[in-house]
Amino acid sequence: MYRSVLVIFFFYLTWVGVFAHSVQLPSTDPFYVPEAGFENEPPGKILRSRILPKNSLASLSPSNPKNIRTIYQLLYRTNDGLNLPVASVTTLIIPEGANLSRVVSFATAEDSTSPDCAPSYTFQLEMNPKNVWAQSEALHMNAILDQGWCIMMTDYESPKGFFGVGAMEGHAILDGIRAVLSSEKLTRLRPNADVQMWGYSGGALATSWAAQLQASYAPELIILGTAIGGIPVDQNATFNLIQGSVWNVMTFSVFHSYEKQYPDVASYMNTILRPELRAKYEHISNFCLSTADLATIDTVSAHSQALDMRTYVTRPDYLNDPIVKRHLETNRVGQMDTPIMPIYMFVAEKDETVSYKDVLNLYTKWCSSGANIQFAKDRSATHTSLLRAAGPSVIRFLERVFDKADRDAGCHSITTDFTV
Ligand SMILES: *[C@@H]1O[C@H](CO)[C@@H](O)[C@H](O)[C@H]1NC(C)=O
Ligand SMILES: *[C@@H]1O[C@H](CO)[C@@H](O)[C@H](O)[C@H]1NC(C)=O
Repeated sequence: MYRSVLVIFFFYLTWVGVFAHSVQLPSTDPFYVPEAGFENEPPGKILRSRILPKNSLASLSPSNPKNIRTIYQLLYRTNDGLNLPVASVTTLIIPEGANLSRVVSFATAEDSTSPDCAPSYTFQLEMNPKNVWAQSEALHMNAILDQGWCIMMTDYESPKGFFGVGAMEGHAILDGIRAVLSSEKLTRLRPNADVQMWGYSGGALATSWAAQLQASYAPELIILGTAIGGIPVDQNATFNLIQGSVWNVMTFSVFHSYEKQYPDVASYMNTILRPELRAKYEHISNFCLSTADLATIDTVSAHSQALDMRTYVTRPDYLNDPIVKRHLETNRVGQMDTPIMPIYMFVAEKDETVSYKDVLNLYTKWCSSGANIQFAKDRSATHTSLLRAAGPSVIRFLERVFDKADRDAGCHSITTDFTV
């Protein structure tokens, strides 16, 4: 009797040990905090690593953990938007039967300034069934793993949550690539593995920054191809488009993040933000979009005034200040070098959160300076439906590039019609 109770007890302990993997918030998890002196390490240097239980990416179900062999997390050194040292985390997912010479940087649309919305954490949570956004991204990641390609999913805002700070996001992805390519002893990923990048929306902002910074910031890296869709080329255009909708939480997030990154924005916000509303403004800024509780956001949006930045500040034309203008201009995509790798760019003509015209201008600009872009503009899709619909065509693009299939030089544009 005692014996069987003991057996059951030990079985229970094992079960708990394997399945009840408790996830610690990045803001309280010491793994995210680099040791003193990390600033002296070169960008991309691995500072710390850990292995997660293979069933820990709960958001990737149902094919997880069948698909997954090992999950690693690496803390590495990178640089923020002011070129100051900062550490960030990338999650490297190795599927069963992996080709350890192929890795895809998958940038999720974190779209929040809270450190606790970092994908290294949120993808360990059970999927919120209402969150179509994270479901679509998980679907894409499962499709990548099904190909036998490894995934690196980078916290490109760093644990400081620098959302919308283009250089931060680009540096973090490029240094994340450096980190995974130097991880062979731990992960067996080949140091000369073929690398490609994929990102949509907020993930495309980070990925396009990585693409346009690669030649200057990480010239030794060879990135074979990049897929970017629904690119928020001009953040100001997005603020104007999402005004009055539930997506407007992103305006709060970007502003709070600019405040944390740029001292002059911090002083500016201190002069214009109504002090009695600061706590509420920060609360909204810290909503997660990724695996977040959309229900919470719905509650807030019911009071549409709560989501109108203009009611939080003493000047309704707060976007018009030269300080804000300058940073919005710096963070616009297309100001840096033209990316040299083949690009698949896709966008919905009727996109309700990013300016289609700005994406078209970016395409034209990059093409006029020697880029190789396959451009697909969609007549029917919305921002969210194109995220889902484009999956198979992105996988085909990545596959052809990995296979080194012949490509036409220059730029080519097609029109698609994904009915929703
Ligand atoms: C693995 O990837 C490398 C690099 O893309 C490629 O050369 C090789 O053929 C792939 N191996 C298999 C078995 O597909
Ligand atoms: C941003 O948009 C506002 C309109 O809401 C406009 O007045 C302002 O000039 C724009 N700023 C930039 C940098 O484009």
